[in-house]
Amino acid sequence: MKERLHKFLARAGIASRRKAEEYIAQGRVAVDGKTVQKMGETVDPALQEITFDGRPVKPPQKKLTVLLNKPAGYVTTMSDPQGRPTVTSLIDEPDLRLFPVGRLDLDTEGALLLTNDGELAQNILHPSRQINRTYHVTVKGHPGREALDSLRRGIMLEGRRTWPARIRKLRRQNDTTTLEVIIHEGRKRQVRKLFAAINHPVLRLKRIAYGGLRLGSLPVGRYRHLGPEDLHLLLRQD
Ligand code: URA
Repeated sequence: MKERLHKFLARAGIASRRKAEEYIAQGRVAVDGKTVQKMGETVDPALQEITFDGRPVKPPQKKLTVLLNKPAGYVTTMSDPQGRPTVTSLIDEPDLRLFPVGRLDLDTEGALLLTNDGELAQNILHPSRQINRTYHVTVKGHPGREALDSLRRGIMLEGRRTWPARIRKLRRQNDTTTLEVIIHEGRKRQVRKLFAAINHPVLRLKRIAYGGLRLGSLPVGRYRHLGPEDLHLLLRQD
């Protein structure tokens, strides 16, 4: 979003608007490497680099965390060398740079958090917090009691035992089964690997809750801002 250069400098905490105008007149401010001394210049801080005395000026970011209902086919990265759509392309927050908290596979749908609050992200992802992730999983075939019990207890995956999983059957279809799986680990492709290990490959995977925060009726591809109560739910364990 475009705004007046002196207003931007003030918003970024460099100085008052009047003082910022003086700095501009003094030739201390540059936009994309070029000194700007003209008054009334407009800039787009998201796209242009603004420096004051040679140092980059960043606007103070307000902290924002959102819950996205990720569609299948979107990568959980800021950009993709293969040109596939990214989850960040679904976020329309001018001036804010939200990054994904953890990841979901390309074909996994559902609850994904994005934030610009590095501390919160670290807190959420820290293994010691053991925040539950709840998935609805459709697998091929009909896994039996013993196979599911082995996943409930934990199995060896890549040389490390998985933490116990909570699993319950939701539906039995013709040749597939849908289950609810709750784990608090975030190992790469963990749910897919768990079910591959008992020979019931995952056909569809959707994360429906992160901690106590549920997707609810949020449409696919849409997101909502989280308030303090949501963050409390997120970090709460049930
Ligand atoms: N487990 C998986 O296998 N994939 C995901 O995207 C999330 C959890």
